[in-house]
Amino acid sequence: MVITATGERLPQVVYWGERLPLGEDLVTLHNAHAIDVTGGMLDENPDLSLSPEASRTFPGQPGLIVRSEDGTPLLPKFCFESVENGKDLTIRYRDEGNGLTLTFEFITDAETHIIRSKTVLNTDSPVHLHWLAAPVVPAPQASDEMIDFTGRWCGEFQTNRTAWSPGIRYRENRTGRTGHEHFPGLIIPCSGATNTQGEAYAFHYGWSGGHRMVAEELPDGRRQIQWGHAARMEHEASTEFSTAPLYMTYSNEGLNGCAVSFQRHVRDRIVTWPKPDRPRPVHYNCWEAVYFDHKLDVLCDIADRAAKLGAERFVLDDGWFGNRDDDTRALSDWEVDPRKYPDGLTPLIDHVKSLGMSFGIWFEPEMINPDSNIHRAHPDWALGAEDQLLGRQQKAINMALPEVRDFIYDRMSAILANHDIDYIKWDHNRVLPMPDAAQTRGSYRLIDRLREQFPNVEIESCASGGGRIDFGILQRTQRVWLSDSNDALERLNIQHNAALFLPLSITGSHVGPRRCHTSGRMFDISFRAWVAAQRHMGFEMDPRELDDYETRVLTEVTSWWKHNRDWMEDADILRLDSQDPAVIAEQQMPRDGERFVVFAGKAATSAQIAPRPLRLTGLNPHSMYEVNLANRLTASHLSRGMPALKEGPIQVSGAYLMHHGVTLPWSFPDTMWVLEGKRL
Ligand code: DGJ
Repeated sequence: MVITATGERLPQVVYWGERLPLGEDLVTLHNAHAIDVTGGMLDENPDLSLSPEASRTFPGQPGLIVRSEDGTPLLPKFCFESVENGKDLTIRYRDEGNGLTLTFEFITDAETHIIRSKTVLNTDSPVHLHWLAAPVVPAPQASDEMIDFTGRWCGEFQTNRTAWSPGIRYRENRTGRTGHEHFPGLIIPCSGATNTQGEAYAFHYGWSGGHRMVAEELPDGRRQIQWGHAARMEHEASTEFSTAPLYMTYSNEGLNGCAVSFQRHVRDRIVTWPKPDRPRPVHYNCWEAVYFDHKLDVLCDIADRAAKLGAERFVLDDGWFGNRDDDTRALSDWEVDPRKYPDGLTPLIDHVKSLGMSFGIWFEPEMINPDSNIHRAHPDWALGAEDQLLGRQQKAINMALPEVRDFIYDRMSAILANHDIDYIKWDHNRVLPMPDAAQTRGSYRLIDRLREQFPNVEIESCASGGGRIDFGILQRTQRVWLSDSNDALERLNIQHNAALFLPLSITGSHVGPRRCHTSGRMFDISFRAWVAAQRHMGFEMDPRELDDYETRVLTEVTSWWKHNRDWMEDADILRLDSQDPAVIAEQQMPRDGERFVVFAGKAATSAQIAPRPLRLTGLNPHSMYEVNLANRLTASHLSRGMPALKEGPIQVSGAYLMHHGVTLPWSFPDTMWVLEGKRL
């Protein structure tokens, strides 16, 4: 990335992307960067700076919109103040007339290829903030479209492709949480880029309170990308505002290059692991088995069976506190329900521990039901108007209030301190009544305080599934509940797209009930188990429903996962360019490239009758590899031919695997081929 400035004016990114040769003359780049002027234009083109200024006649969206405390709009115009250019880069600019200081920070990570940047505004007297953009960068001209993300409950990480055209692609998330609908990511592929080849630029805004993204093509053809908190979510005038970190990367290895940068950065830089050497334990979560109907003997029986299947952590979901018999009541009454647990949680925890599993527990700390003791005692603790619309019969609790945070902290820490608990599933099941940055900061503070007090407790970020997944929450948590959908087919798609940002180690995936509770569909246990084995594996069905065949398959796949997790947890997830749209495939491979596993999910019946070869990626073309079907025995009776892979392992070159591809046996829809490879 090359950042240059003309005189005192705010600097601009004049180049970013492929590494330039060391001898490149940056002054020449600065001069060569300026675009020409013709009729109908200003005499000089306003800079597309790190914070474009309306006061300099910038023809697009400005980077900062601010008003004085009395509401008068300010028109910022910044001049150079200082620069610190060590390992990190900090650039400071000052608007003396308006008493504003703008600071841009850049931190580059040479290993993960991520640039982390943010903008901070300091002011001499309090101001009202409308919009503050993280450092603004240009988007490539050699790109026809952009990819951003939408979704819904049980359908997270859907991609939108939008063609570039003059004007704005504007995403604003005003829900007050990251949301299923607005994952804060953007990929700009250069023309012709696919998963495995071509150039791409990508962004992620690490904030859980809702963001704004602006991708704008100016009348002169230049393109700018802006990210920040959703506008007007700072309700109070203040003298300091900051954006969240903006994470940016570039790849000349297709979308996978960007995906690998994000995956590694999340796993190795953002998430802090209480016990980094401990393999990710196989989870059992009881939600879809019992819902609110907690009975000690049933839960103990379920725990016995889950442990036999291979579970290593038992997570007690919603329903253990207050009088929580359904989702209409008791949120915020964080005390064990004596009707369901007359001797407290200890008997259940002791039983779980005796089976060799650790114990996790569900909370939804930022929420309150009007029908709860705490709401009756402190109705003023709820966030938003009294007559607001409820969501799942609940309100958010005002996390900006220190007394509220203290109360929740006391209740949660009492549970954690008095029990042997190493895991919290932290839920957030409704949007806020209005966007509010103070609420998000309050949530962060509560989590940080609990983590300081209980450093060995891991946290899973859940919000009706994947409603709060972003690098801000991942600084404080170790797992995301990607979706409430345990439907293996839906999951296959969601996991595939989420891998553009998220590594295996933090992405929870469970084997659900035989008939999926959120789609009504039924899939064979083999498909359900392998889809869960693509990520951090767990179970969520009632194990009492499993027949002998299902028990055998699930035990086998779980044991396969345990044998492989050590290397898979550190592997990159590479999305494959399948020539058959019915096949959704990925290759997981560690950095040394010595081995890999390919998961090829058959998401539909194919248009053509026979499978097309599936090309692999990232291999050494000159090396020989042995590839083998891990689940050969599941071939259907309608696969009647004898492709070599069906009979046993084959030895072929990396060149063959990447340029021709493997020819898999014919398969039914809703099945998965698992192909293991090792370099010879
Ligand atoms: C929503 C979550 O996504 C579910 O997994 C479960 O924890 C429920 N909340 C509990 O109320």
